[in-house]
Amino acid sequence: MHLNIGELNNEYKRAIAYSALCQTCLAKRPYNLFHRANLYMRTQDVERSFGNKTTWDRSFDDHFRQYVVEFNEGVFSNGRDNRAFNRDVLDGGLEGADLVYLDPPYYDRTKQNGATNYQFYYYFLEGYLQYSDRSDMIDNSVESKRLICDPSPWTDRDRIYDAFEELFDQFSENKLAVSYNTAGLPTPAELKEMLGEHKEQVHIEARKHQYALSTAEDSADEVLLIAHD
Ligand SMILES: C[S@@+](CC[C@H](N)C(=O)[O-])C[C@H]1O[C@@H](n2cnc3c(N)ncnc32)[C@H](O)[C@@H]1O
Repeated sequence: MHLNIGELNNEYKRAIAYSALCQTCLAKRPYNLFHRANLYMRTQDVERSFGNKTTWDRSFDDHFRQYVVEFNEGVFSNGRDNRAFNRDVLDGGLEGADLVYLDPPYYDRTKQNGATNYQFYYYFLEGYLQYSDRSDMIDNSVESKRLICDPSPWTDRDRIYDAFEELFDQFSENKLAVSYNTAGLPTPAELKEMLGEHKEQVHIEARKHQYALSTAEDSADEVLLIAHD
C-alpha cells in the first residue's frame, strides 16, 4: 500500500493517502498501543471483548477509504499563505509569528516514569513511512523491534526545565499561549514564573478535562498559560 501511494502523481493526494494510512494503522491498534509485542492477540482464534474490537473488526480497506474522505473534507483555503514545518522546535527559525501556540509533550510528575515519548508510541508509523530505510532504524535489542529513539529533553526529568527555558527564550518577542496540564513537570506555577522572565503579563486559564482513555480518578486539569507584554 505504501509503495502504491508513492505512485500517486500529486503531492497533496500522496499526503492525504499517507495520512489516511497512518490513521487507519492507529485505529486498528489493539488496546491503542503499538509498543507491545502482542501480535499473537490478533492471530489467536478466541472470543474478544476489548474496547476497540468493533474498529478492529472493520477492514483496513474500509477504514482507509473513510479517512481519505474525512481528510479531504478538512481541506479548505483561508486565503492566506500558510506553511507547515516538521522539525525540532528548538532548532529555531520560527520566530516571525504574531502569536505562538505551543502544545508540548508533557511529563507527568505524579508518575514514576511520566514521560510522553512520541517516538516510542508512534515508531511503527515512522518506520512504515520510511519503509526503505527502516531496517537501519530498528532497535533489535527490544522484543517489539521498535525504532531507535533519539534522546529528547522533553522526556528527561533532568533536562526538561532547560528545554522550557530555551523554548521561552526563543519566543521572547512573541505573544505566547501554552497548553499544559496540572500534573506536568515543571509545575504550571513554575512555567508561569519562567514566562514572567520574558513577559509583563502572564496568566493561567483552567478547564476540567478528561482524556478519552482515562477514568475520572486519573483525570487532570488542562490549563492554558497566556503570556504577553
Ligand atoms: C501534545 S502533542 C500536540 C498535539 C496537537 N496540539 C494536536 O492537537 O494534534 C505534542 C506534539 O509535540 C511534538 N513534539 C515532540 N517533540 C518535539 C520537538 N522537539 N519539536 C517539535 N515538536 C515536538 C509531538 O510530535 C506531538 O505531536
